[in-house]
Amino acid sequence: MTDRSAKLTIDDTEIELPILSPTAGPDVLDIRKLYAQAGVFTYDPGYTSTASCDSTITFIDGDKGELLHRGYPIDQLAGKSHYLEVCYLLLYGELPTAAQLEDFENRVTNHTMLHEQMQYFFRGFRRDAHPMAIMTGVVGAMSAFYHDSTDIADPWQREVASLRMIAKMPTIAAWAYKYSIGQPFVYPRNDLDYASNFLRMCFAVPAEEYEVNPILSRAMDRIFTLHADHEQNASTSTVRLASSSGANPFACIAAGIACLWGPAHGGANQACLEMLREIGTPNRIPEYIERAKDKNDPFRLMGFGHRVYKNHDPRATVMKQSADEVLDLLGVEDNPLLQVAKELERKALEDPYFTEKKLFPNVDFYSGIILEAMGFPTSMFTPIFAVSRTVGWISQWKEMIEDPAMKIGRPRQLYLGATTRDYQDIEDR
Ligand code: CMC
Repeated sequence: MTDRSAKLTIDDTEIELPILSPTAGPDVLDIRKLYAQAGVFTYDPGYTSTASCDSTITFIDGDKGELLHRGYPIDQLAGKSHYLEVCYLLLYGELPTAAQLEDFENRVTNHTMLHEQMQYFFRGFRRDAHPMAIMTGVVGAMSAFYHDSTDIADPWQREVASLRMIAKMPTIAAWAYKYSIGQPFVYPRNDLDYASNFLRMCFAVPAEEYEVNPILSRAMDRIFTLHADHEQNASTSTVRLASSSGANPFACIAAGIACLWGPAHGGANQACLEMLREIGTPNRIPEYIERAKDKNDPFRLMGFGHRVYKNHDPRATVMKQSADEVLDLLGVEDNPLLQVAKELERKALEDPYFTEKKLFPNVDFYSGIILEAMGFPTSMFTPIFAVSRTVGWISQWKEMIEDPAMKIGRPRQLYLGATTRDYQDIEDR
């Protein structure tokens, strides 16, 4: 709160609105009493100027291209930390001591297995089901299997539900993949780190030994870390809105997964790689740039642009370096898709259409290239995003549930439909 306020005059009535000051970012007009005082709503479809909650977890300065988790810059976390340590930071607010981290890793690792009966859920899907469809269904179904962690009023149950989801999501994503390719499910191995375990569950087969390549495991861990949280994005806001009704945590995270799937959000990594493949060679780039600029063509450059970042996406910078490193180490540095991506980025950033609209590559522009080089099909890109973002959804869910002032989310509307009219019998219409 500041001692500043804003005055709003509607006809002859003047209303004073308090101005709240965050620890970082723009001040916020507090309009909570506006309807009671002035009988008007605000109108902001897409929430371009609306803070939907207060939070202490993640901060983005879109103009500077800065992303902080609990104050720590993402490039430092991606360079020096690892995914489970970042999970601890997001969930509990501080970096762990060595003992706290070991205890947390053990607690997560304890929950990596899925209830054996859940296999029937996977087997109930068509073989060609998208793994995101399977994940949405299976995560929602967890509330039918883990009854001892659905009471959101019990802090212990909230904690267990949180650990279960972080631990089981890689197993669920890997099994969705295994099911789609007709290979047997691979059980988790708790002597492996989080990323290595995921890679093994995706790529091992019972007939052969599988050695996890530490370079790929590090790259996987970095992809998880870079996607861990992103303040009030569409899927996180979906989780918050779903949980504001008191719904169980598994149902809320399933709602987040469903929202993430869209191509404007988490589905962009799949869409971006498909676009790079469709472009195919650098000589076709101008044609696609022209299409992206054409208002009559729905085509957009996937992996480009962001609602909040208007300078650069700091995650994209780390992802681009990672793509170079991984392809180099795999001996595929002349990967044609990487060449198309780099040339597309260069050409777009020379074009005033993109620079004037502040459209830059986002995190998804290079992530698909790394994932493809690792051997993942495009349909697995968004499930991997969902695995990574689970901790962000859960941290934001916990923060909301633990706030004594929590209210059910209930937006209002600008109604433009018919006013009251009398029902007409069918023969009179
Ligand atoms: N290609 C071409 N034009 C674009 C693009 C693009 N990728 N993105 C935005 N524009 C144009 C858009 O046509 C509009 O032009 P005008 O003002 O002339 O009408 C202007 O830029 C503003 O676009 P907007 O749709 O109003 O912006 P937004 O903030 O609502 O949308 C976005 C943000 C990310 C949905 C959008 O940039 C987009 O669709 N990008 C492609 C999809 C993508 O890469 N999504 C991943 C986001 S990062 C990962 C995540 O957090 O999920």
